[in-house]
Amino acid sequence: MIELKKDLYWVGIKDWELKKFHGDEFSTPSGSSYNSYLVKGREKTVLVDTCWGPFKEEFIHHLETHLGLDKIDALICQHSESDHSGAMTSLLERRPDLPVYCTAKGKQMLMAQYHKEWNFVTVKTGDTLDLGGYTLQFVEAPMLHWPDTMFTYIQGMAVLLPNDAFGQHYAFGPMFADEADPCLLWKEAITYYANIVAPYAKMVRAKIDQLKKMNLPIEMICPSHGLIWRDDPMQIVEKYYEWAGPYKENQVAILYDTMWHESKAMAEALARGITRTGMVAKVINAAKNDETFMLTEAFRSAGILVGSPTINNGISHAMAALMEGLKHLKLQGKKGAAFGSCGWSGEAPALLQKHLEEANVEIAGGPFKAIHMPYEDQIAELENFGEAFAKGLISAE
Ligand code: FEO
Repeated sequence: MIELKKDLYWVGIKDWELKKFHGDEFSTPSGSSYNSYLVKGREKTVLVDTCWGPFKEEFIHHLETHLGLDKIDALICQHSESDHSGAMTSLLERRPDLPVYCTAKGKQMLMAQYHKEWNFVTVKTGDTLDLGGYTLQFVEAPMLHWPDTMFTYIQGMAVLLPNDAFGQHYAFGPMFADEADPCLLWKEAITYYANIVAPYAKMVRAKIDQLKKMNLPIEMICPSHGLIWRDDPMQIVEKYYEWAGPYKENQVAILYDTMWHESKAMAEALARGITRTGMVAKVINAAKNDETFMLTEAFRSAGILVGSPTINNGISHAMAALMEGLKHLKLQGKKGAAFGSCGWSGEAPALLQKHLEEANVEIAGGPFKAIHMPYEDQIAELENFGEAFAKGLISAE
């Protein structure tokens, strides 16, 4: 148990070894944590969220040793996903009487996952639970990032527990964000946002607007993954608001695959043109890089250029997977174009352009096709397009 402030304790799990999350969908090079919190009021002690199933016995043993399971008066399940609910089966086997506070959707989703009729108490926005000295105030937050999600605000402590929102997959270092390596912290925070939260950007902005209208004093934000925001906690809220808009940095992501360095030559020509303007070109081979990293780079970019050789009338496997991921992000305000080499039929650039359109990327030119290795005049055309494309992005800022 780690005391975060008077009567608030972290009782979670640090998963240093985690390298993939959501099955194998999401890379987590910095590990993650399953943050669980204990709030001690004068009359009631409540546990907020648990941890992923593989750690459930360690989690329960720790609570039993340092507190005693009989001392817990209620469990707050803010979100039913298994990384936060996985220890509920063990806990509730030992304490079947324990009230489980969750949203109506949370109850439905917990029952669908665990097939148990626990002692559910469903809550909605505005409902409260008096602990004696502190009061929990529940705020439903559907689609941040599941329909069941809710936030919990601790009145009398000025602490917001927003579950997955404002988190990072970051196990390293201390408990608080202000004690962490800021480069790594913000890299993990934007990676987490881009890959998990970005598809629900409209709900992010609406929820932040709602929270601001509620005018709650917030001294600490304790997410369910990663480090806790203590110093200027609203900084992550403001960042989320910015990321939830048409967010862009001064860069273009060139995401491509290549068989015989022909599409690669096209990617490099585009990059040369872009860098003439001072804009950053990130040239990333989709078959050799991590998808979570590439999707984050796409999210950060003002422009996205995608390339693939034509293979059996289609695009490469790596680009097909990446384009599927790109569509999930619900991108806003991005411009792009497609390119690729071929031996004869040359469908890939047009197919990629269609994928870009489906990913909500505005097409700014192309598609560009080369039969095998591009000639010098084609290279010059690509360089010139890269330059004009980047200038267009800069002038749109
Ligand atoms: Fe961290 Fe949506 O679970």
